[in-house]
Amino acid sequence: MKNMRFINRTFYALLFAVIINYSFAQNILKVEVNKPVAKVSPSMWGVFFEDINFGADGGLYAELVKNRSFEFFDPLMGWSEMQGHDKKGKILIVNVGSKSPQNTRIANITVDAEKGSYGISNEGFRGIGVKKGGQYNFSILAKKPAESGIKIHVELVNSKGVKLGETTIDGFTESWAKYKGSFTSSDTDAKARLNVIFEGKGSIDVDMISLFPNDTWKNRPNGLRTDLVQLLADLKPGFLRFPGGCIVEGRELDTRYQWKKTVGNIENRTPAINRWNTEFKHRATSDYYQSFGLGFYEYFLLSEDIGAEALPILNCGMACQYNTAEVAPMDALDPYVQDAIDLIEFANADTSNKWGKLRAEMGHPAPFNLKFLGVGNEQWDEQYIERYKVFAKALKEKFPQVQLISAAGPDPDGKRFDYAWRELKTLNADLIDEHYYRSPEWFFKNANRYDNYDRKGPKVFAGEYASHGKDTSDPESKNTWLSALSEAAFMTGLERNADVVKLASYAPLLAHVEAWQWRPDMIWFDNLRAVATPNYYVQKLYSTNKGTEVIPALADGKVLAGQDSTYASAVVDKTKGEVIIKFVNASSKPVDYTFKINGKKVTGNTSMQVLSSTDLYKYNTLDDQQLIYPKEIKLGKSKNELKVAIEPSSFNVITIPTRI
Ligand code: AHR
Repeated sequence: MKNMRFINRTFYALLFAVIINYSFAQNILKVEVNKPVAKVSPSMWGVFFEDINFGADGGLYAELVKNRSFEFFDPLMGWSEMQGHDKKGKILIVNVGSKSPQNTRIANITVDAEKGSYGISNEGFRGIGVKKGGQYNFSILAKKPAESGIKIHVELVNSKGVKLGETTIDGFTESWAKYKGSFTSSDTDAKARLNVIFEGKGSIDVDMISLFPNDTWKNRPNGLRTDLVQLLADLKPGFLRFPGGCIVEGRELDTRYQWKKTVGNIENRTPAINRWNTEFKHRATSDYYQSFGLGFYEYFLLSEDIGAEALPILNCGMACQYNTAEVAPMDALDPYVQDAIDLIEFANADTSNKWGKLRAEMGHPAPFNLKFLGVGNEQWDEQYIERYKVFAKALKEKFPQVQLISAAGPDPDGKRFDYAWRELKTLNADLIDEHYYRSPEWFFKNANRYDNYDRKGPKVFAGEYASHGKDTSDPESKNTWLSALSEAAFMTGLERNADVVKLASYAPLLAHVEAWQWRPDMIWFDNLRAVATPNYYVQKLYSTNKGTEVIPALADGKVLAGQDSTYASAVVDKTKGEVIIKFVNASSKPVDYTFKINGKKVTGNTSMQVLSSTDLYKYNTLDDQQLIYPKEIKLGKSKNELKVAIEPSSFNVITIPTRI
């Protein structure tokens, strides 16, 4: 009898152990729909833009002529005298100084012979990208003496010199005026050139020689490259950070980014050398300048177009601390603070205000409703905190509704970072900008970084991050699947902690394959094409599935942040009636997971978007764009408990419809 009891007990104990083990082995993620822990900020997933890697000029800004107003340090950079013409003329660069205080140089062209001609040719930004059947709009500012008989013949030629389109412009007067002409390109070429040929005898002054595709975003003149904006719009970004990045700071204060120089008539915007022109000796880009054709007005307009909150970052009286580290004296900060006040007014004031009026004159009478402003970029130490205090005092007094972003330096930890957080906490800062350019291992390890952050302190803006791994010679090769997968894992932690992390953006955004300084980047392009990286798709899967509230997603009562190389977070979208689970399997083995949805009845069909590759070092290229690309899997009608086979090395977004 005793033996029987012992056998029974042992049997039940073993059975219990098997059941327990079975449930462990089963991998269960319990998702509590009715227990929201935080609201997801509608602006949570955004975009960081900086004019680095030909991001603006030569990239997003659709101007095809480089050095259109002869303002580069070398005034004829990008231009060459045309061979084959009879060279019966010459070009003279004239600095008209105070006659045009902002954009001082013009070109004076003389043609000597009655039937002579003289031509200059522009090489564009690593060539001019043109498409067969596309219309191209040429414009030029010009004036000439009454007796001069010059007309201008404009030719677009392909890389072999074959003519693709042409137009002639005539009728110049003695006063400066803008002249326009259009043509259609008979072929596609990524490396075309623009020839501007002056015919007849006499002289002419010219400036702002420009060529734009007619096909710009929303067909705007002075517009943006459609394919690149479309990729941004497809992200449905919550915000658009601009103009950077280190470009805000300048190598020295004199070359800092100054927003007022980027608004008003484009011909009056003074170009400046781009700080990335010389930043990295091994990636020097001597022809990299900022025309500011994509300036602050165009930026606000773009943000509005793509439904993103504008999030400008302004200089706070400090140049880049990696370069000169110059600071403006504390008693000379006023102009910097005034710039910030004026920018908010440019965005938000009505037209009775000087800056609101300028915005209206530029085409947007309604305010842009700016809600965020960054004070400094990657600043650190006491010199930052004391300057931040001055900005915060002035701006909070005048614009209490605008949330200020403050800097935590370039690193995600360490002395400078801890000091900034300590000080900014005591100042009740709104949002602190954390940057992390780190290894994939760091990203995996830090998926729980924010789980224990102080809930009462300032909120976090994960303002610049990217996983930096291995690369090969292909420009796009640093954007491996491993880097994207590690970001996806890390982002489960951002999402799970949406009560602390309010904004996040990958950086940098854009890079020209022939003119980059920094990689990895989210989107690569050449003069005709653009490719979204695996990192782009990770961002897109988050931003287009952001939900409205974070809900608990627990395995064995714990958040899933690396156990067996798996990571998870979950949100509910209250408006759509959906539970959305982000699940990363970073192991090389498939795994079966059971998702238990508690608290709301599951209705309708479940689907899953999967981004995966067993080759962790795979990346997309301009020639092979979809090696890593999200696929949609229909899981059919499911119950509150669903078992899903998860692929190895995969990022999965599972959408489960529930009752609202
Ligand atoms: O994103 C590239 C650079 O990285 C940014 O300009 C700067 O803020 C950071 O150091």
